[in-house]
Amino acid sequence: MGKETVIFNISRFDPDKDKKPHFQKFEIPFLRKDLTVLEGLNYIQQRLDHSLAYRSSCRAAICGSCAMYINGKYRLACNTLVSKLGPGAVTISPLANLKVHKDLFVDMKPFWEKYEQIRPYLITGKPLPAEGEHPQSQEERAKLDKLIDCILCSCCHVSCPVTASHVNYPGPMALLNLDRFLSDSRDGARSERLSIVNDEQGVWRCHTVFNCQEACPKDLNPSGAIARIKMKMVKEKGNP
Ligand code: SF4
Ligand code: FES
Repeated sequence: MGKETVIFNISRFDPDKDKKPHFQKFEIPFLRKDLTVLEGLNYIQQRLDHSLAYRSSCRAAICGSCAMYINGKYRLACNTLVSKLGPGAVTISPLANLKVHKDLFVDMKPFWEKYEQIRPYLITGKPLPAEGEHPQSQEERAKLDKLIDCILCSCCHVSCPVTASHVNYPGPMALLNLDRFLSDSRDGARSERLSIVNDEQGVWRCHTVFNCQEACPKDLNPSGAIARIKMKMVKEKGNP
């Protein structure tokens, strides 16, 4: 890497041409100290190779779409500064354990299926009050802090070896979001929600590896959510 430039070493795969992925190097100007990895990818796609495929949208660490494996860690490309990655090339691979459609663009369908499985919406089980909303005290709302910050980026999901090897395991993202609804005072489907994951392939399949916690770019704690669900089950339903 020269002082004025930085090398991006990117995993490329075109299903129409390639049998397997390979890395390709691009040298780009190190335009500013606050250059992000996403801006580097945009530079390459707009000026050097229009065929480079990756996902992004908000550019503000909100939508979760730009998660990828950058210099040995799952990160959001939009809030990862190239200057913070240390000397040497910026090496980028797609999210693991998901089918690669092209380059850094993977098939998210299995991830969304896990999310749908936990029924990620309020099930109040009672009619809407006349004032038009189900009230919640400040203390009740505070119990959702952090849990509602998940941006569904999938960093935890793809970093989990149990999720990768057990097709029916919901994975850390789904379990954290399950805990989000279990912790909501307005929800009335507690027993039904616990039943969704109360079996050997469900929450009990977690081996407490903690990869999910390390991988989360929003500093959330899926391992803690999994432990809380287990405790709720033991108290309320008994384990299988
Ligand atoms: Fe991403 Fe963290 Fe949500 Fe997992 S818990 S999907 S790593 S934001
Ligand atoms: Fe939305 Fe990065 S582009 S999180």
